[in-house]
Amino acid sequence: MGKVLKRPTRIVYPTPAALVTCVDREGKPNIITLAEVFHPCIANPTMIGLAIAPQRYSNRLIRETREFVVNFPTVDLVEKVDGCGCVSGRDVDKFERFGLTPMPAEHVKPPLIKECPVNVECVLKSVQPIGYHDFFMGEVVAIHVDEEVLDENGNIIPEKLRPIVFVLGEYWSLGERVGRYGFSREKGAA
Ligand SMILES: Cc1cc2nc3c(=O)[nH]c(=O)nc-3n(C[C@H](O)[C@H](O)[C@H](O)COP(=O)(O)O)c2cc1C
Repeated sequence: MGKVLKRPTRIVYPTPAALVTCVDREGKPNIITLAEVFHPCIANPTMIGLAIAPQRYSNRLIRETREFVVNFPTVDLVEKVDGCGCVSGRDVDKFERFGLTPMPAEHVKPPLIKECPVNVECVLKSVQPIGYHDFFMGEVVAIHVDEEVLDENGNIIPEKLRPIVFVLGEYWSLGERVGRYGFSREKGAA
């Protein structure tokens, strides 16, 4: 079988879905669903990229207050994730509408979402218009992790994260672990 050449478009492979929180100038919080959250390969500083269309209410809020929190939901929150991506914070309070609980962050004004096991506080570093979206680049300033997803040494237990991943317009959960970084060398295969 040959390969079919496709024009450049969103690639098939999964990206994590996230609930991104931000605040207006008075501190009122909002939530936007983004299913394409990018981690450029930079460890120090750690950066996160978000593509947010200019018409989104959250686009204006993050530009104005220059902070956001990326909250990673578990699969059981999928309806709330979809809901937060179908209505605007201009019209509704999404914390109230979807029964999500705001918690104070450590360094930024936007709240963490309690129900999400991992919450990443970010400070906006740049905004770059790209096509129909603006690309927001944020620096990670703190990460919160639920105790329940940590082992006794404080390491995250991946099975407990149960993230939602987005593939070609659909929500998926992750399957089985098939290896670990460097395992082929340990087996003598590399
Ligand atoms: C699964 C999913 C993924 C989404 N991804 C994006 C995205 O990457 N960028 C974007 O601008 N909007 C995205 N949206 C749409 C926004 O979440 C939606 O327009 C939302 O209502 C905007 O809220 P706001 O006006 O309160 O900011 C997505 C929606 C869903 C359901």
